[in-house]
Amino acid sequence: MNNGWNKIIYKIWSPIYDTFFNSGAFLRARKKLFCEIEFSIGEHILFAGVGTGADLSFVNASNLNITAIDLSPDMLDRATEKFEGSTIEFLQMDVQDMAFPDASFDVVVASLILSVVPDADRCLAEIARVLKPNGKIIIFDKFASKKQRLPWLRNMLRPVVKVFGTDIGLRFETLFDRHCETLQIQSNEPIMLKGLYRKIILRKQ
Ligand SMILES: C[S@@+](CC[C@H](N)C(=O)[O-])C[C@H]1O[C@@H](n2cnc3c(N)ncnc32)[C@H](O)[C@@H]1O
Repeated sequence: MNNGWNKIIYKIWSPIYDTFFNSGAFLRARKKLFCEIEFSIGEHILFAGVGTGADLSFVNASNLNITAIDLSPDMLDRATEKFEGSTIEFLQMDVQDMAFPDASFDVVVASLILSVVPDADRCLAEIARVLKPNGKIIIFDKFASKKQRLPWLRNMLRPVVKVFGTDIGLRFETLFDRHCETLQIQSNEPIMLKGLYRKIILRKQ
């Protein structure tokens, strides 16, 4: 995956994205994720790689200070259209290299983004940088199991699936190990498809 290719892929995905990733099991998982999370009035929230804005339906934007970024203008256009007239600020930006000062946000929502960016390590480091001390990262994503080697089929399919814009072999634990001095795991639990998709909450120390 690289940024240029991701822009092409998500241009193609943009008209049909919600049919697949904002319905059925995905919609139920998003509902579950957000009904368990409380935001405080006035908090500054960043939606990193907001896509078509599937997560935005679950937060009360008028009570919060929301910024939503995405690399793909086509995905961002969908989100902007849906939330026209809201107070949400939409910006085209690379989550691996954000223009925000350090410690800008109370919460960062990172749904289905770590498995998509070319460099998940850099993405998580940038998210941690823009987060205030004691701030929270909410992750909804698919990760490979920490216990075993990747099953052969998954290993074989990994490069093929990457072409469609996502990595099915990313291990959260390997990624987290490189950030354990700045971040702390508050919870890590299965949310969909027998734990293939997880809800992970991290705190900045
Ligand atoms: C699988 S979609 C997830 C969208 C949304 N977060 C959701 O939960 O439906 C991945 C999104 O990440 C965006 N993306 C890919 N690379 C990015 C980057 N480097 N910076 C910001 N967004 C990126 C894509 O354009 C796409 O909208």
